[in-house]
Amino acid sequence: MAKILVTGGTGYIGSHACVELIQAGHEVIVLDNLYNSKEVVLDRIAEITGVKPKFYRADIREIEEIRQVFQENKIDAVIHFAGLKAVGESVAQPLMYYETNISGSINLYEIMKEYGCKTIVFSSSATVYGAPKSVPIREDFEVHTTNPYGSTKLMNEMILEDLTVSDPSWSVMLLRYFNPIGAHESGLIGEVPNGIPNNLVPYIARVANGTLEYLRVWGNDYDTIDGTGVRDYIHVVDLAKGHIAAVDYALTHKGTEKVNLGTGKGYSVLQVLHAYEKACGKELPYKIMDRRPGDIAECYADTQKAKELLGWSAVYNIDDMCRTSWNFTLKNPDGIK
Ligand code: NAD
Ligand code: UD1
Repeated sequence: MAKILVTGGTGYIGSHACVELIQAGHEVIVLDNLYNSKEVVLDRIAEITGVKPKFYRADIREIEEIRQVFQENKIDAVIHFAGLKAVGESVAQPLMYYETNISGSINLYEIMKEYGCKTIVFSSSATVYGAPKSVPIREDFEVHTTNPYGSTKLMNEMILEDLTVSDPSWSVMLLRYFNPIGAHESGLIGEVPNGIPNNLVPYIARVANGTLEYLRVWGNDYDTIDGTGVRDYIHVVDLAKGHIAAVDYALTHKGTEKVNLGTGKGYSVLQVLHAYEKACGKELPYKIMDRRPGDIAECYADTQKAKELLGWSAVYNIDDMCRTSWNFTLKNPDGIK
């Protein structure tokens, strides 16, 4: 059992990770400034696990607020989810993204160093691969970013790698997530997008519950199974379990590892839409539109390294992902309140 600080622990992926950590026997401390989540998520975590994590409402941009957490708790490892994640917004407001995702993260790493806590799992993204030369994507593929959000992910990877070079007693896991969707089986925690969603499944969920009229399918002229874009959707609970495997690995190994967390399978926009229709039991209207600028045709993970290094692989299928997303949407029509 370890004492684990989860930054961004009331957020979408962080809350699912808290549940899995607690169920695996770890002690969880949550740090979040509640910019994109609600404190009541902690009660939901308690409802699922029987344990309410200790909570610090703190901002990673304020180094003293992070220091207080380390002063008051002997932290063994950090899982660092806190940050901003909207690609479009990062193009419009790059400084805000660099301030939170870079300066905020450096504050965290400084304090970890100060307190001798040198084990970290970082939320990176498949976005660091840019437009990959082929699929499935392996961890040793070239990296290249096309927007400030992606750059903050890549820069954090570089910062943490440099830190390990300067002091080999650090343990760093850089987890590159593919497309997380779905929700906990209980329907108590899940994704609550801010405003009109940009991402596919949150958008479909709102078409299914009648909040939005129809899905706009961004292009059907890609070289894919049906012409629509293909992505590697991964159930958020599988993703959360990947973090348990990663933190367990990091607690017993030194150095840096980059690991893809995906299923290794790609689904097209229309395949996801049809799976969601099955989940919600109705036909969902859509219109084919022009391609969305910056989109790529196909993106899915090579999952070999996660299997070999962490002994982890995803188990939920696309029907499970849509079913749990729909269950959460029905149970929380106005988000988590
Ligand atoms: P989320 O917005 O639900 O969670 C992020 C949490 O960080 C929120 O609870 C928010 O309140 C908190 N936060 C934001 N700024 C903060 C600050 N300055 N100080 C303290 N807390 C702050 O997002 P998520 O989907 O759970 O993503 C978690 C991490 O995974 C992010 O780093 C994101 O970039 C990364 N990621 C997400 C996806 C995805 O599709 N959801 C894909 C790849 C990588
Ligand atoms: C986006 C982000 C990426 C992030 C990922 C997961 C961009 C350019 N990239 O990737 O950085 O890591 O989300 O959060 O924003 N689609 C539609 N109609 C919609 C929405 C999406 O057809 O209303 C299609 C897209 O064209 C794409 C697929 O659905 O083919 C998935 O889109 P989305 O959920 O936005 O994820 P990504 O584009 O993979």
